[in-house]
Amino acid sequence: MSKSTVAHITNNPDEPVTFFKQITEAAKKQSTEDVIFMNLATIDEEFGVLNRTVVYRGLSDDNCIIYVTQRFTRNFKNIQANAKCGITFFLPNVVVPLQGQDPAIWQVRLIGATAEELPESQLDEWWNKELLSAQIRDHIFPCGQPVNYVELVEKHDRFLHDHLESKVPLQRPATYTAFKFRAQRWDFLKVGSGQIADRVQYRRLENGDWQSMHVST
Ligand SMILES: Cc1cc2nc3c(=O)[nH]c(=O)nc-3n(C[C@H](O)[C@H](O)[C@H](O)COP(=O)(O)O)c2cc1C
Repeated sequence: MSKSTVAHITNNPDEPVTFFKQITEAAKKQSTEDVIFMNLATIDEEFGVLNRTVVYRGLSDDNCIIYVTQRFTRNFKNIQANAKCGITFFLPNVVVPLQGQDPAIWQVRLIGATAEELPESQLDEWWNKELLSAQIRDHIFPCGQPVNYVELVEKHDRFLHDHLESKVPLQRPATYTAFKFRAQRWDFLKVGSGQIADRVQYRRLENGDWQSMHVST
């Protein structure tokens, strides 16, 4: 028999970041991967809008989404030219304990997210958490440039060998950087199988408080 129900987001917290933490912590616990990905859209002079998948690194001390990149990427240049971005998290098959026992697809969007580059004094903290592979990439891989694959692998293997021999931690290159994002709106969507989605949107008021409301999908 065909069925149709409407998903329900209930008892959502007053602060969007608290809700975001509930969903991402549940997603991490229920996944074999410890990483959460997000989609970052920027305004690009040549292509209009440009989006890409990136790693969600965590939250800053003031509860903003952190993103790590390199100063020679196109996305860095895009953000420098226009700090307004769009960010979307897609988290399928997650049971958020305070939201019922059935798995659902969750989408979290930061609408009108303004990027702010972190000061140099905060970058080492994030650099030290990077995987070795990411640190090596940041040192020797020229993002977006045509390359000779074989030469690049040789360069990688030499770099890795020298690094392991030296037994010294890799230093953060000058090109490494990070941004934090402050959103005008946070939009949470929940939908299960055979359901019409429910959405709760948080809108930032002039006084800095958040107003939350259900919005139609
Ligand atoms: C799973 C995954 C995670 C990624 N994480 C990052 C990241 O955290 N930072 C980053 O600069 N690029 C990351 N990338 C690469 C970007 O998607 C993109 O290819 C790169 O940033 C160049 O994009 P641009 O030319 O638009 O600047 C990731 C790619 C994938 C597939």
